[in-house]
Amino acid sequence: GRGRTEVTVLVLGLDNSGKSTLLDALRPPEQRVHHSQPTVGQQQDHFQSSGVSFSAWDVSGAPRHRALWERHYRRAHAVIFVVDSADHLRLVVAREELELMLAHPDMFGRRLPLLVFANKCDANHALAPMQVAAALGLERITDKPWHICASNALSGAGLTDGIAWLARQIR
Ligand code: GTP
Repeated sequence: GRGRTEVTVLVLGLDNSGKSTLLDALRPPEQRVHHSQPTVGQQQDHFQSSGVSFSAWDVSGAPRHRALWERHYRRAHAVIFVVDSADHLRLVVAREELELMLAHPDMFGRRLPLLVFANKCDANHALAPMQVAAALGLERITDKPWHICASNALSGAGLTDGIAWLARQIR
């Protein structure tokens, strides 16, 4: 295993997908904060929990911010990609961002685990994880182990399962 070496997990997703809410739910309770201001392009959140360093980036639009998160690709051990399962219209945008990330020279060909949270599974008209996987084209990913999980970042449902999968991949 990695022993005490810190593991770095990048949390990526479009604005409003639920990254901040999700990370808040993963934090130790005494470290929880309430995010309200979307910060486009900027690093939204960073914290450490049991030797894992999480940092979240909003990958929506603003190409001028791209270099900010791409700089972190090289040292990432895993990626969590958060999707709003009820935002049908923007699934295609999410797919484009995912594909850009996967094709990046610092990512392509690396066997780093990719965990997709099909978030907001509680929302009206939320797509099932299988449908989100199809919309994102996950079956085409051959260089990385990937896993998709339905989640509700507000209640925390689904988060433990996803993180347990990730932990098994990294160990
Ligand atoms: P940006 O800061 O804009 O990049 O957004 P973000 O990806 O950090 O999303 P954020 O955590 O701010 O959540 C966006 C909105 O969705 C907030 O109003 C959350 O309360 C809500 N939300 C997040 N996760 C869920 C979920 O699982 N279910 C539902 N129903 N709402 C959620």
